[in-house]
Amino acid sequence: MKIAFFDAKPYDVKSFDPCARAAGFQIKYFETKLSEDTAELAKGYDAVCVFVNDTVNAAVIDRLVSFGTRIVALRCAGFNNVDVKHAFGRIHVLRVPAYSPYAVAEHAMAMLLTSIRRIHKAYIRTKDFNFSLSQLTGFDLHGKTVGVVGTGKIGRVFIDICSGFGMRVLAYDKFPSSELRESGKASYVSLDTLLAESDVISLHCPLTEETYHMLNASSLEKCKRGVVIVNTSRGALVDAEALLGAIKSRQVGAACLDVYEEESDFFFEDFSGHIVEDDVLARLISMPNVIVTSHQAFLTEEALANIAETTIENIRLLTEKGECPNELCYRRGEAEDCKSGKCF
Ligand code: NAI
Repeated sequence: MKIAFFDAKPYDVKSFDPCARAAGFQIKYFETKLSEDTAELAKGYDAVCVFVNDTVNAAVIDRLVSFGTRIVALRCAGFNNVDVKHAFGRIHVLRVPAYSPYAVAEHAMAMLLTSIRRIHKAYIRTKDFNFSLSQLTGFDLHGKTVGVVGTGKIGRVFIDICSGFGMRVLAYDKFPSSELRESGKASYVSLDTLLAESDVISLHCPLTEETYHMLNASSLEKCKRGVVIVNTSRGALVDAEALLGAIKSRQVGAACLDVYEEESDFFFEDFSGHIVEDDVLARLISMPNVIVTSHQAFLTEEALANIAETTIENIRLLTEKGECPNELCYRRGEAEDCKSGKCF
C-alpha cells in the first residue's frame, strides 16, 4: 500500500510513521495541499491521505481515479471539503469520525475562559511587567446560559464541561438525542430561542448547505446583546463579515474562533513576515475581544495518536476485508453516515 500524504506537518510524520511501519504501508509526505494543481503527485499511489483544507472536489476525484488511486483517507472527522456525491461509486472515502472529542471541547472552553477573563491581555501585560488590572474585568460563567448548537460527540463533552461550571445549558440539534434530553443536562430548544437566551453560543455541528452561514447578520441580530460566540467547528458556519459588523456595533461581546471561512489560504502556515490581504481576518484579529487560533482544537497528543491509528486501520480494513465502518459513501445506504442521510 502506497499512500500520498498531503498537507504534511512534522507532528503528522511523528504520529503516522510508527503506525504505517507496523502495517507495512509506505507513506510519501507532501507539504503541499491536495488540489487540482497538485493531484498529479498522487500518480502511482493507491491512496491519498488528506486533512481539512485539502480540496477533494469532482475534478480532483476524477484525476485520482484516472491515476488508479482507490482511496481518499481523511485524517479528520468533517468532510465538507469532499464532493461526496461525486465520490460515490468512484472512489472510497474513509474518515476518522472520533479521535478525541475532549481535545476540541476542552479547546472551546480554553478559548472561552481566555476571552472572558482577558487572559490573552493579562499574559502580554505581565510579560512586560505591567501589573495593572485596568480593563481586565471579566464575568462568571456560573449561572450564565450557554447555547450549544450540535449535540454530537464534541457538543456533549462541551455540555458536560459547561455543566461543571454551573451553567444553564440550552441545546439545538437537527437530530436531538433522547439520551441527552433524558439526562437533564441540557434543554433542547429552537434555534431562535437558543439565540435569544444564550450568553455564550458554541457551535459543534457540521458544515452543510443547511448550516452554511448559520450565524449571519440576521441571526446575530436575534442574539442577546453582548453574546460571546465560540466556533471550533467550521469557519463557514459564521458569516465572518457579519460577525465583524456585529462586533463593531457591540451586538457581539466577544468571539473565539478556531476556524475561519477563508482559513485554507492562511491556517497552518507562517504569514508573520507577509502583508495579509484578507481585510476581514486582519480586522477581526485586531479586535481586543476576538481570539483566533488556527484550527488547533484537535491538536493534542491523544488525538494525533488516535488519528494516525484509525486512518491506517481504515485503509487496512478496506484493503484486506473489502469494507470499513468508517467509509463515507462508496456503499450508499450501508455506511453509518449514509443510513442517517447526513452525508448527502
Ligand atoms: P458529530 O457528528 O458527533 O456531531 C454533530 C452533531 O451536529 C450531530 O448531533 C448532528 O445531528 C448535528 N447536526 C447536523 N446537522 C445539523 C444542523 N443542520 N443543525 C444543528 N445540528 C446539526 O460530530 P462531532 O465529532 O461532534 O464534530 C462536530 C464538528 O466539529 C465536526 O463536524 C467538525 O466540523 C468539527 N471539528 C473541528 C475540529 C477542530 O480541530 N477545530 C476537530 C474535529 C471536529
